[in-house]
Amino acid sequence: MEAKSATAEAGANIAFTKYWGNVDTRLRIPANDSISMTLDAARTLTTVSFRPDLEEDYVVVDGCAASGSVRQRVVGHLDLFRQLADTGWRAKVVSGNNFPTASGIASSASAFAALTVACAEALELDLTRRDLSRLARRGSGSAARSMFGGFAILYSGASDEGAFAEPLHDPDWWEICDLVAVVSRSGKDVSSTGGHRLAQTSPLHRARLAQVPALNKRLREALAERDFDALGRVAEQDALLMHAVMLTSCPALLYWLPETVTVMRRVRRWRAEGIPAYFTIDAGPNVHILTPPEHVNQLLKDLQANPAVQEVLVCQPGPGAQRVKGETDERCGS
Ligand code: PMV
Repeated sequence: MEAKSATAEAGANIAFTKYWGNVDTRLRIPANDSISMTLDAARTLTTVSFRPDLEEDYVVVDGCAASGSVRQRVVGHLDLFRQLADTGWRAKVVSGNNFPTASGIASSASAFAALTVACAEALELDLTRRDLSRLARRGSGSAARSMFGGFAILYSGASDEGAFAEPLHDPDWWEICDLVAVVSRSGKDVSSTGGHRLAQTSPLHRARLAQVPALNKRLREALAERDFDALGRVAEQDALLMHAVMLTSCPALLYWLPETVTVMRRVRRWRAEGIPAYFTIDAGPNVHILTPPEHVNQLLKDLQANPAVQEVLVCQPGPGAQRVKGETDERCGS
């Protein structure tokens, strides 16, 4: 029998309001709604081949055979699809990122969005985008949002059925730039999966959840009106609220490095000088700087001259996860 294969590509996304904490850990049902922008320049390319001759799943990420919890998470996702397609075939998964993995650039979002589309296409499952977003969520909550291009919302939902993502605006709705200031390329000590579990140990978790609906309302208005300062204020505030929860969890999660704070302070100084720039940070040390396109060159030059910054990725709104031709290069990823 022939292998069933497909390749898919997905962009990472940057959340303006964050998903942090689950109401159901096993099903990854988020504790709050979150809104993000899918990125064009931070991508994962994944090829999946289900084969009758494989005895076990084989997973390669960025040119290296995956083991332990990384492999297990992928195998768990493959199991979901095997169940849907009623097959026992094991699979070979080859995945590559064009940006640093597991350091706060949402590699799990693009990885599980690409894996979801590749699995569904390989097994010829007839699924809607909403179904795909729910399935992607089971691998990584934020992956549900990368199913859509441009700007998307992930609903918390009371059940697996209700926790899906939906598009809010297409990529060409608004040209917001996300300059990702990479201050460290090392992987993080505590994965976001581990972090979500700790959220409820923070006395600030409930307080943040009480704020999020109002932040999402303001954010949706800012997106609809293309009001950059309103969007930036919400994004920066919710990033700080989420990191306040992380910092006060038991045990505490401190994802920032000294260089992270250096860049945060730089962004605040730009603002004081009249430049519209706001920061947001995921579960890692790298800083995402949101700014309109006309300020990119100036900020890029400044960031590149800053010794705290190793590299800057320039991202704009990009497309949702999609099937593509060709396959992922096993030696070095995408
Ligand atoms: O999808 P996960 O489990 O990697 O969690 C994402 C968590 C944050 O990136 C910190 C926030 C978000 O909404 O993307």
